Amino acid sequence: MKAPLKIGSLSFRNRVLTASGTFGMGKEFSDFLDYSQLGGITLKTITKNPRQGNPPPRILETPYGLLNSIGLENEGFQKVYQDLKKNDYLRQYDTNVIFSLAGDSVEDYVEMARFFCEIEGIAMLELNLSCPNVHEGGATFDSNPENVKRIVEETAKTVSKPFTVKFSPSQDFVKNSRIAEYSGAHAITISNTFLGMAIHAKTKTFVFKNKTAGYSGPAVKPMALANVYRAAQAVKIPVIASGGISSAEDASEFLIAGASFISIGTLNFVDPGLAGKIAKEIE
Ligand code: FUM
Repeated sequence: MKAPLKIGSLSFRNRVLTASGTFGMGKEFSDFLDYSQLGGITLKTITKNPRQGNPPPRILETPYGLLNSIGLENEGFQKVYQDLKKNDYLRQYDTNVIFSLAGDSVEDYVEMARFFCEIEGIAMLELNLSCPNVHEGGATFDSNPENVKRIVEETAKTVSKPFTVKFSPSQDFVKNSRIAEYSGAHAITISNTFLGMAIHAKTKTFVFKNKTAGYSGPAVKPMALANVYRAAQAVKIPVIASGGISSAEDASEFLIAGASFISIGTLNFVDPGLAGKIAKEIE
């Protein structure tokens, strides 16, 4: 039986989304892609305070993937919120806009979620508990299940729009998915990037300041597929799959593995129109 085209009470045109961190704030891709072809777009994660991000280099291509260590560069929630209050450009997009948030505390998540829920052009939220590039060594917020429980419970009590919780594949995402479900999340996103590393052998130095980085792209697809399958077996709420999808065939594999929605991430950088093409072909 086909999974419903819904997350909470929100209906989707189709199952194809874009992944946060690969799609800017929506404006950057609008010349390349007709958003009405998509189920939704997910914007770059916003944090409570402005963040300059990590020093360069921030990305490194590998034969079948991409390492990134952006460090959540963004203008901070107050600035982004005020700008959207003045000009809710997201309303013009004929698709569901998913707004991604990351905090340093439970309170950060809940406060930002409450504010951004007021913005009409935002249809749904993503709570990103899994950015690996903020702390050296890749520590993520979802390494502590108690964090997951409290953030989801408090957000569910506070906001009126549906939300998904994005997990790290390096943590116990099956346990975290169950916790998110019983604490009130409307969906889970499996997953953020895998933990990777690059070293200059000649100089014996790490390529990235934080040593580790997030790894994505076609190389991670088989691992992501297995993770999505495991998460989808564990929960009844929709699973949004993310992990190296580069074709309609890849997307179909994730849907067969149990995902209700799929998101295109790294491959947006190769072909900014790819999500639209995949949506068309899947139909
Ligand atoms: O470094 C970054 O901005 C990555 C964010 C993420 O993976 O959530």
